[in-house]
Amino acid sequence: MADGKSKNMATMFRDGLFDDARILVTGGGTGLGRVMAEAYLALGAEIHICGRRKGVLDETAEALMKAHGGKVVTHGVDIRVAAAVEEMVEEIWRGSGPLTGLVNNAAGNFISPTKMLSPKGFDAIAGIVFHGSFYVTLACGKRWIGDGLAGSVISILTTWVWNGSPFTVPSAMSKAGLHIMTKSLSAEWAPYRIRLNAIAPGPFPTEGAWARLNPGGAMEAAASGGSEASAYGGNPWGRQGEMVELANLACFLMAPGCDYMTGQCVAIDGGAYVSSGGNFSGLSRIDDEMWVRIRDQIRSVNEKDKASRTV
Ligand code: HXC
Repeated sequence: MADGKSKNMATMFRDGLFDDARILVTGGGTGLGRVMAEAYLALGAEIHICGRRKGVLDETAEALMKAHGGKVVTHGVDIRVAAAVEEMVEEIWRGSGPLTGLVNNAAGNFISPTKMLSPKGFDAIAGIVFHGSFYVTLACGKRWIGDGLAGSVISILTTWVWNGSPFTVPSAMSKAGLHIMTKSLSAEWAPYRIRLNAIAPGPFPTEGAWARLNPGGAMEAAASGGSEASAYGGNPWGRQGEMVELANLACFLMAPGCDYMTGQCVAIDGGAYVSSGGNFSGLSRIDDEMWVRIRDQIRSVNEKDKASRTV
């Protein structure tokens, strides 16, 4: 297309592509997780979404079922708690039947100079991204192996798994760990027909992420050119990602017919990573005083979110 924008998802995939699928999307109540859950649902899958805010999950489930029909089941779970993950996955297996796919989407992140992080700040992010994603992968993987069933795992990473990212070090470290998990388990679990792949999205603006990665336009302030794209060191495509583009890739990787593909991480970032690293190095221009203001802004978003959590 002339403007470089994607066509509607329906033009890419046939109806009923996921009729036999049952997919868990962690953090599926909002943002990218919700978009991927919706795409799978629209193509026939039964969907399970989990997160810490049961109310938000229930609202999403209702809206998605209203729009597409089908079945969306919600689970109020903090994936940092291994026992709660185990309980949720067992409940899915017993109550609905075995999953066919898992999307490790739930994440936590905020921009901060590493010198301003406390151990608890690091643990909050590593607990969700690194530990939590592993707990869910293990809970599903051991059941697939035990039942002799195939399975597919997609983990949402970032391009920083290749080059790191200043100012989001706990996230970059944790996602790099998941990258290695993807590669390691793709070999270990291939004999069981369990696939693991990953997506490395560039800038896809969602409310949860942007409140913590671009509070008050911090990135624009840091960018030399003043445009949002230049905050990423200049995105050669000249725009941010469209949600449908991410959903298309998530559908492709999950689809039957993609069986021989495993252990891969695909970037979808308009060429940001290959052109200039696609990370937060532009934030070096922010001074300490400004960082304190940014931190306070992020914390107030965190507190607001916390108030609506049920687990
Ligand atoms: C420094 C901070 C901070 C900040 C929190 N902390 N925000 N430190 N600067 N801006 C510190 C706190 O002071 C505290 O440490 C510790 O982190 C834990 O804070 P809590 O708020 O109690 O944590 P918790 O309630 O567990 O919340 C976790 C969270 C929060 C990660 C901090 O942001 C969250 O729930 N996020 C979920 C949604 C999200 O982040 N989405 C964005 C994903 S984007 P002390 O020592 O003070 O007690 C993504 C990649 C995108 O993943 C890639 C784009 C290219």
